[in-house]
Amino acid sequence: MSTGSPPSERRKVTTRTFRQKKAKGEPISMLTAYDYATAQAVDRAGVDAILVGDSLGMVVLGYETTLPVTMDDMLHHCRAVARGARTALLIGDMPFMSYQVSVPEAVRNAGRFLQEAGMNAVKLEGGRERRDTVEVIVSTGIPVMGHLGLTPQSVHQLGGFQAQAKTTASAERLIDDALQLQDAGCFAIVLESIPARLGRWISERLEIPTIGIGAGPGCDGQVLVTHDLLGLFDRFTPKFVRKYADLHAEMARAFTAYVADVESGAFPAEEHSVEMPDEAWESLLKRMDREPQASLAS
Ligand code: KIV
Repeated sequence: MSTGSPPSERRKVTTRTFRQKKAKGEPISMLTAYDYATAQAVDRAGVDAILVGDSLGMVVLGYETTLPVTMDDMLHHCRAVARGARTALLIGDMPFMSYQVSVPEAVRNAGRFLQEAGMNAVKLEGGRERRDTVEVIVSTGIPVMGHLGLTPQSVHQLGGFQAQAKTTASAERLIDDALQLQDAGCFAIVLESIPARLGRWISERLEIPTIGIGAGPGCDGQVLVTHDLLGLFDRFTPKFVRKYADLHAEMARAFTAYVADVESGAFPAEEHSVEMPDEAWESLLKRMDREPQASLAS
């Protein structure tokens, strides 16, 4: 529906579009965005969904993990993205501690993404332990995307950012979690950093689409963190990322050139300056010559 057609002809992507794409075997594309300009560019490229991920804590705010990200941080960035995007399905990522404490708190926070920040759906991490939460949020009319495998909000429990479900037992558990999230009403599930053959196996058996990030080509869709794809985040690059640009290097080149131009006087040039009519300027000079102090004071 989205890719290929000019922006003006594209229709708003919905959770129904996700279902239709899975049924037709058409891959679903998703990217993260955290600000207006990026959301505009990503949306115009024809992406199906924009995730305002809590990854913003690491790639925009510079934290070591996603754990310090708050509801206020998320809503602030979601609003900017909503102003920039027109057709993509907009998904707000529920931050750590916004849905784990109690189901009513989770529902209220999920609602804020739609009511205050222009999102169309929310995403949250976890499997069977989130079943009730997902069920109640979905029952209020809010679409929920699940997230299994490497779930960054559990980084300390997992012992680091590493691939998951590589043993028979953990893979079986993940399959069961995926089924439980589907039964609870999730419209799609992100599978992060799991073996490719497991990603394909689950995708072939679930009725809802899977969106993979480091889960192989057998998923129904793919997502990447935009800062990784653009080469903007240079602290580390996960194995599953393909860099489509090296914007960190390009930014460094541009900033160094700017500093050199300012220092040499090459910037600003005539075309960057505003002028005033000659007669206004000459009249000003005459006035200043006559009574400079009075002119400055008035
Ligand atoms: O926060 C995020 O960007 C995510 C994606 C990696 C799926 O959860």
